[in-house]
Amino acid sequence: MAKEKNNKMEKIVSLSKRRGFIFPSSEIYGGFANSYSYGPYGRELKNNIKDLWWKMFVQERIDIVGLDGPILLNPRAWEASGHTTGFNDALADCRKCKKRFRADHLVEEATGKDLEGQLEEMTKILKEEKIKCPECGKSDWTEVRNINMMFKTNMNSFDGDVYLRPETAGAIFLEFKNVVDSMRVKIPFGIAQIGKAFRNEIVARNFIFRVREFEQMEIEYFIDPEVKWEDLFEEWLKLQEDFASELGAKDKNIRRYEHAKEKLSHYSQKTVDIEYNFPFGFAELFGLAHRGDFDLKEHSKASGKKLEYFDPQNNKRFVPHVLEPTFGLDRSLLVALSSAYTEEKLEDGSERIVMKFPKKLAPIKVAIFPLLKNKPKLVEKAREIYDNLKTEYMCEFDDNGNIGKRYRRQDEIGTPYCLTVDFDTLEQDDVTIRDRDTMKQKRVKIKELNDYLNKKLK
Ligand code: GAP
Repeated sequence: MAKEKNNKMEKIVSLSKRRGFIFPSSEIYGGFANSYSYGPYGRELKNNIKDLWWKMFVQERIDIVGLDGPILLNPRAWEASGHTTGFNDALADCRKCKKRFRADHLVEEATGKDLEGQLEEMTKILKEEKIKCPECGKSDWTEVRNINMMFKTNMNSFDGDVYLRPETAGAIFLEFKNVVDSMRVKIPFGIAQIGKAFRNEIVARNFIFRVREFEQMEIEYFIDPEVKWEDLFEEWLKLQEDFASELGAKDKNIRRYEHAKEKLSHYSQKTVDIEYNFPFGFAELFGLAHRGDFDLKEHSKASGKKLEYFDPQNNKRFVPHVLEPTFGLDRSLLVALSSAYTEEKLEDGSERIVMKFPKKLAPIKVAIFPLLKNKPKLVEKAREIYDNLKTEYMCEFDDNGNIGKRYRRQDEIGTPYCLTVDFDTLEQDDVTIRDRDTMKQKRVKIKELNDYLNKKLK
């Protein structure tokens, strides 16, 4: 089973490269730090996920507004939020091969024990259990020590270290007052942001699951500290599960994991992860944390500025509490890839690989083919249809190779509909439409194409 699962991951990685979704970055220089580029279809897929998220959590919500804050913030913000001192991972070096590892991961994989934060205990177990280095197989470890996960950089106009943001949340808290003052937000309300975050992970692994540069989609949802928050917390968990379903995840592949009280992050009162059954097993996809008033209070203390909300109805002033639903974009994309990946045996004994993305996520919605490349009338007609449809949908024109190969290519990038212009088209003004999932074909009049696709795709 485990082998089969790893196999699936290898197949996804290979298809992602072969079909232009995701490339290992800096490959011509031998690669770099397990980082990736999103290729043409990966970029479309990613944008479609962002659009879906924005529509669900900003456009369709009266109580949530958007923000696009900077990656570089005043470093005092990361001191106040506790990141400069508390945002650490436990590191162990192999003395033999000099490779570095997450000590908590080594211990957990070997013993099943979760010793997060207990550095001495981890050092002891690495030694006593003679845990082997995954790289060279020896067991000769340094003491386990904490290492800060923020990337440092510097600014010519600033004296001191500057950090690449390790989460998008920071800017939201810093703009809390500006949003309250400029918008007519009434509590409870949320501020949403999508953007890059950077973490100096000791080991990047599992393809785009754990990388050092990634994107988050986060909401800080501000609530009255006196209201019962448990129901809202549950509502947000359900919404996060709904979003996972929208990515194509089946219910059986989604589960919740509540963090033990003593293991909570420095800011959290309660945290629940939404986990997904990735090809390498269940792991964190999204998180929901009750951050209390930690951030607003700390930023207020450090900056000397009041970060409060005035409720005119009840004539009271208070520091709101915060529920934080956070969504990893790269992990969402991995869910979309993993859920969509399908191998099918066909009646003629052949096999096809098809990415059964939910239609709204498919990078290309419609592919248009002239049956033959060397028949100018067919090519011209197909171009005309392409030019008409491309203003509505991401379309692709393809006149390369036989039709079977062109279908196979579109199946592998998950295109829901392929249109073929053939000789009958010139006589009857209709085209063949082939459905990705059923592979059934039907004739549709060219003048009805827009309506037909609209119904199917919107
Ligand atoms: N603001 C809260 C916060 O950042 P987190 O659980 O540390 O919480 C949120 O991160 C989400 O960001 C995770 O659920 C995951 O989807 C994504 N994420 C975190 N580290 C990541 C990494 N190294 N690579 C890819 N995605 C990551």
